[in-house]
Amino acid sequence: MPRDVYGLIKPILFSMNPETAHGLTFSALRALGPLGRGFSHLGYGLADPRLQVNVGGLTWASPVGLAAGLDKNGVLARFWPTVGFGAVELGTVTALSQPGNPKPRLFRFPEEGALINRMGFNNEGSLRLAERLRRLRQKEAIDSVPVGVNLGKSKVTPLDEAVQDYVASTQRTAAYADYLVVNVSSPNTPGLRELQGAEHLEAIVAAVVRESKGKPVFVKFSPDLHEDALSAAIEVAEKQGAAGIIATNTSIDHRGIGDVGAGGLSGSPIREQSLGVVQYVASRTKLPVIAVGGIGSIDGVLDALAAGAAAIQIYTAFIMQGPGLIARLNRELLQLVEAHGCNSLEELLARPVDSWRPSAA
Ligand code: FNR
Repeated sequence: MPRDVYGLIKPILFSMNPETAHGLTFSALRALGPLGRGFSHLGYGLADPRLQVNVGGLTWASPVGLAAGLDKNGVLARFWPTVGFGAVELGTVTALSQPGNPKPRLFRFPEEGALINRMGFNNEGSLRLAERLRRLRQKEAIDSVPVGVNLGKSKVTPLDEAVQDYVASTQRTAAYADYLVVNVSSPNTPGLRELQGAEHLEAIVAAVVRESKGKPVFVKFSPDLHEDALSAAIEVAEKQGAAGIIATNTSIDHRGIGDVGAGGLSGSPIREQSLGVVQYVASRTKLPVIAVGGIGSIDGVLDALAAGAAAIQIYTAFIMQGPGLIARLNRELLQLVEAHGCNSLEELLARPVDSWRPSAA
């Protein structure tokens, strides 16, 4: 697939309603199957082994991972590594399948490089995802990069029964996931973010870790948490045996972008806010941090790594810039490794930050 294919089809996709464009792209890639993966592999390439990083005991093929929410049901689980993603996070799935919020619920702001969404965890449920992953594992079809499963609470489950919801999904998916994520930070399920409070969080993380079959469990935070709440949540994650933190989810502060009602803002406008949370979390804990929020350039990647992130994830910039972005970031990281005479990215990152990221000093 030539690198500029996305440049050709983007105007068509962006002329459509965002969910129609999403559905059409997913259908096309599903229908193409191995052909699509083969073309992507040839056009964009898998990550170079020198880019491997360790994230909470897992080897990511590159520090650039796919963020949760784009492939909630894991239908393209085999596709993502072929465009260079070094890890893939599927979900959010919930214990019950659910339709999500009424449409429209996804809005693009191309000039700002932003999206606002209030999808509300539209997903087929953790049982379907588990079955899909079981079949893929049997065929050894998704073993090239770590595959995470991000877990949320079903809308109809009351907050005080949330633990059972997370536990059910954990029991179903843990055997087929490389890591699990406790998502308590989506703004689009009423009350969900209250689960970031110490008491709820403690019970949920403890239960998910207990049922995780030894798989690492990450906790994903909102960028809108105040420092006190964030500190308390980090402490809970550490105490209950979480393997790392993902920072951040979308923000409910829309900063005047669009008048589309409730939802979470993602993309460029949240970059500084998310980076601030990454910095704060990394300064407070030795747990690895996965940075996500507004990253869409090599500067964004390097700022996050310099702030102490072990790896990063991308959603919105992938929609805005297309799959070529991931190949480009991998290439630029590799150029940096080579320019510093290192044999691997990990060797480079072990050096003092100001030697490879002078602007961060
Ligand atoms: C998301 N995100 C998200 N996160 C999550 O943990 N579970 C989910 O189901 C979703 N769903 C979702 C849908 C849409 C349309 C968007 C734009 C985002 C949040 C996502 O994983 C990420 O944390 C934020 O979007 C910030 O990163 P970007 O988009 O700025 O790179």
